[in-house]
Amino acid sequence: MVRVTPFLLVLSLALVAQGLSDRKCTLTGLWINDLGSNMTIGDLNRKGEFAGSYHTAVTATTNEIQVSPLQGSQHRTNQKSQPTFGFTVNWKFSDSITVFTGQCFVDDEGKEVLKTMWLLRSRVDNIKDDWKATRVGINIFTPLHSHKE
Ligand code: BTN
Repeated sequence: MVRVTPFLLVLSLALVAQGLSDRKCTLTGLWINDLGSNMTIGDLNRKGEFAGSYHTAVTATTNEIQVSPLQGSQHRTNQKSQPTFGFTVNWKFSDSITVFTGQCFVDDEGKEVLKTMWLLRSRVDNIKDDWKATRVGINIFTPLHSHKE
């Protein structure tokens, strides 16, 4: 009995840890990132494609920010737990495009998080300015309260 108890304790901790890492991360829903930008991702179709909208909190322009459409897809072979995905935002208020790529994780506390990297391509008038037309960065998204399970 004395030797069985630590074994059961280790086993149950391992099962809990396994259970957390097996939890499904779902893209569909409302998300907010570290800059305060919000996005809504709609339901995925059978091919893993999705559409949504993006409300950025910041802009590289002096234009008035407008909610902009996004289109993306989730990798079909990893729909089970922590899928990779990519999406493009076609900004309505500037000539720019941003592509995001990332992975949907369930963290150690069981919370969903999107770890992403992005490239923001701004339009330049002259090919000589091409070298400075692309910004790169990371964003971390967490669910907004009404996130879909
Ligand atoms: C523009 O300024 O031309 C369009 C808006 C770009 C907003 C960028 S996209 C990457 C980064 N993450 C955000 O949530 N907003 C900025």
